Amino acid sequence: MLWLLFLTLSGLGGSVPLFPDPGSGRPQGGIAGTHDAPTGRWPWQVSLRRYNKGLELWQHVCGGSLIHHQWVLTAAHCTQREDLEAGGFRVQVGRMRLYDHDKPTNVTQVIRHPEFNQSLSAEGGADIALLKLEAPVTLSEHINLVTLPPASLKVPERKMCWVTGWGYIRLGAPLPPPYQLQEVTVPIVENRVCNQLYQNSSNSFGEIIKDDMLCAGSEGQDSCQGDSGGPLVCSWNCTWVQVGIVSWGDICGHRDFPGVYARVMSYISWIRQYVPPSPGS
Ligand SMILES: *[C@@H]1O[C@H](CO)[C@@H](O)[C@H](O)[C@H]1NC(C)=O
Ligand SMILES: *[C@@H]1O[C@H](CO)[C@@H](O)[C@H](O)[C@H]1NC(C)=O
Ligand SMILES: *[C@@H]1O[C@H](CO)[C@@H](O)[C@H](O)[C@H]1NC(C)=O
Ligand SMILES: *[C@@H]1O[C@H](CO)[C@@H](O)[C@H](O)[C@H]1NC(C)=O
Repeated sequence: MLWLLFLTLSGLGGSVPLFPDPGSGRPQGGIAGTHDAPTGRWPWQVSLRRYNKGLELWQHVCGGSLIHHQWVLTAAHCTQREDLEAGGFRVQVGRMRLYDHDKPTNVTQVIRHPEFNQSLSAEGGADIALLKLEAPVTLSEHINLVTLPPASLKVPERKMCWVTGWGYIRLGAPLPPPYQLQEVTVPIVENRVCNQLYQNSSNSFGEIIKDDMLCAGSEGQDSCQGDSGGPLVCSWNCTWVQVGIVSWGDICGHRDFPGVYARVMSYISWIRQYVPPSPGS
């Protein structure tokens, strides 16, 4: 069994998990090898929120990225339950610390990829969704857009890329206050190798890593629970390009289980059906 990377509400001490408990089998966690991100380095990182009645707070459940003044890219499994519609979400932009001067923006539209299968969830692929913000954000030193790749972009094996988020930092360990955004550098793992790693450890012969997925991570360097929906970016020509969306994995930080991401290149034309290119990006 695999676990998904979104946070349940129990992560902050609430008693009722918002989502069905994703951890049903293998132990979760592992050293994710992260450290505090410097201010202003990842200005497209956003925090996706759901309201926690017990805590009376819009609680972080997933990451996401600003790809346009009014659109956020995230994972479909972060928006998975059918009763969770736009009004149930908020998005906090431009913050390094969760809940620091919180002023989350309303979401007016949630568009899940039509091929995302709710029962297979992230492992079924097409784990991608768009959120439309109620009003465009104003760009600043702390708020900016990430560049989308050309659909034809090939990401070379072993290229070092970066993933960011407010997810777990190690086995059973949610990020402690003051909830500073974490970053970690991860090597790209070729799909064929990644598939073999997962097959070998699950004694399965089927295709586990699909063409619309991308793997990255090494021992102690990985994304983890609560990072879902957040961006995996690589630098080309002095520009950060988002190649992946945190999707799923098995035991974060374990060398036999690289993190699995939705491959953004596979969905450029789908994104462009809704999100116009931003001027100057
Ligand atoms: C966000 O939505 C809520 C509930 O629909 C509404 O009460 C609130 O005024 C909205 N916020 C803004 C800034 O429009
Ligand atoms: C989702 O996946 C399940 C399990 O493979 C399959 O039975 C079902 O038909 C799929 N649903 C859709 C809408 O494709
Ligand atoms: C998977 O197992 C096979 C057979 O034991 C081995 O040859 C192969 O190197 C393993 N693959 C990886 C990626 O570890
Ligand atoms: C980087 O620049 C080179 C040369 O202009 C170009 O061929 C390549 O496509 C660029 N890479 C990306 C990812 O934009």
